[in-house]
Amino acid sequence: MVTEEQVDQVIAEILGSYRKDRKNLVPLLQAVQTKLGYLPKEAMKGIASFLEMPEVDVWGVATFYNQFRFVPLGKYHTVVCMGTACHLAGGRLILEALERELDIKVGETAEDGNFSLERVACIGCCMLAPVIIIKDKIHPKITPFKVEEALIPYKHEAQSEKS
Ligand code: FES
Repeated sequence: MVTEEQVDQVIAEILGSYRKDRKNLVPLLQAVQTKLGYLPKEAMKGIASFLEMPEVDVWGVATFYNQFRFVPLGKYHTVVCMGTACHLAGGRLILEALERELDIKVGETAEDGNFSLERVACIGCCMLAPVIIIKDKIHPKITPFKVEEALIPYKHEAQSEKS
């Protein structure tokens, strides 16, 4: 979890390396998200004041693009590929299985901060379709049944850290 201080520091560093130009809005949003994994409210405020534009306009642009996230990623960030090969190989069923197993919708992070779920286009290993990634580990030729299996170690780890 990123602290408020870290967020402030990252924002200050990023703003310091851009010109005060509204054309830089999307690159600024991308830079913050790359560094923090999401766009915290403080970042939106900081960018708005840096570019001297209303905060609501910054939100308007950020919410227009589905590449931006407004909640932190979970500890076990899970990515489901919905590129053509994965989609044709049953990606929709995999996505549904993940949503069911994690009890969150795509784009969300669970309340306890453990799992988050994101859909992406091709991740470059179509021969292994359908593919998911859990905490940077690729799970090839996944099925809805294997989704359940693949999540077990992470769920156990999350559970044992809680107790
Ligand atoms: S479409 Fe999923 S890896 Fe290429």
